[in-house]
Amino acid sequence: MTKLINGKEIAQNLRNQLKREIDNLKNKIGKVPGLAVVQVGNVAASSVYVKAKTKSAKEVGIEVIDHHLKEETSEKELLELVMKLNNQNNVNGILVQLPLPKHINEQIILDSIHPDKDADGFHPLNVGKLSVANNNDENLLIPCTPYGCLVMLKGLDINLQGKNAVVIGRSNIVGKPMAQLLLKESCTVTIAHSKTKNIEKLCKDADIVVAAVGRPEMVKGNWVKNGAVVIDVGINRIEVNIDGENKSKLVGDVDFIEVEKKASAITPVPGGVGPMTIACLLRNTTIAFKNSQKN
Ligand code: GUN
Repeated sequence: MTKLINGKEIAQNLRNQLKREIDNLKNKIGKVPGLAVVQVGNVAASSVYVKAKTKSAKEVGIEVIDHHLKEETSEKELLELVMKLNNQNNVNGILVQLPLPKHINEQIILDSIHPDKDADGFHPLNVGKLSVANNNDENLLIPCTPYGCLVMLKGLDINLQGKNAVVIGRSNIVGKPMAQLLLKESCTVTIAHSKTKNIEKLCKDADIVVAAVGRPEMVKGNWVKNGAVVIDVGINRIEVNIDGENKSKLVGDVDFIEVEKKASAITPVPGGVGPMTIACLLRNTTIAFKNSQKN
């Protein structure tokens, strides 16, 4: 029987745990973590994510400091806001929703966020720490989506050591940090990407496949070996024709109907990785808050 990995439930458990921890911190020190959420412009998907992140943060007791800036905001203005937030005492985590408008250099903005307040774990210092730190460092700020995938993998009844893992996609947000996390678990990791030759064969040898490319239903049933674990990071909106009517539907990077027949465990879309990303953002904010109390 294929196990459906229930990201919604695992994320809920993580949020419950964080809520208890934040309640305790509030009782003990009279303060709660603060998360600044910055959106520039009105990309529809970003608005959905920002709304969901804000709602979840408030539910666990995090204070949200919301900054929604207009599309025309200059890089300099955004940098000034980040600097202000870097120095603001009630802000422990800063999230700048990506993508940013084309006229703003994303890396310059990500580099300007204070590494201690880097709720996404995208700052080069935190990227570096992830690659050199040992396995049990609880204070690291780790990119949310790959960390969420790791939590789901660790919740399965499998030993990750020595497993062949293929990560499809080499983004800074998911693919590269995912590979680092799997390497830390002693997996043998391959990163596949758009220029990779014979990607199907690589996948076929994998015990674990993490698909994060943004290509609807790319991973087919005959790419996956029997019993593999498949984590689908993709969230793609496609048009489907149902009874002569065009409807939009969310699908992952994995052809779920085909791959479910082969995998021992698989994440659905929606309800798999998505909720985990948000829960891990709240976790990072809480870690940043606790780290700030030590200084
Ligand atoms: N855009 C897509 N995913 C993410 C994410 O995890 N963090 C931020 N800041 N922007 C994103």
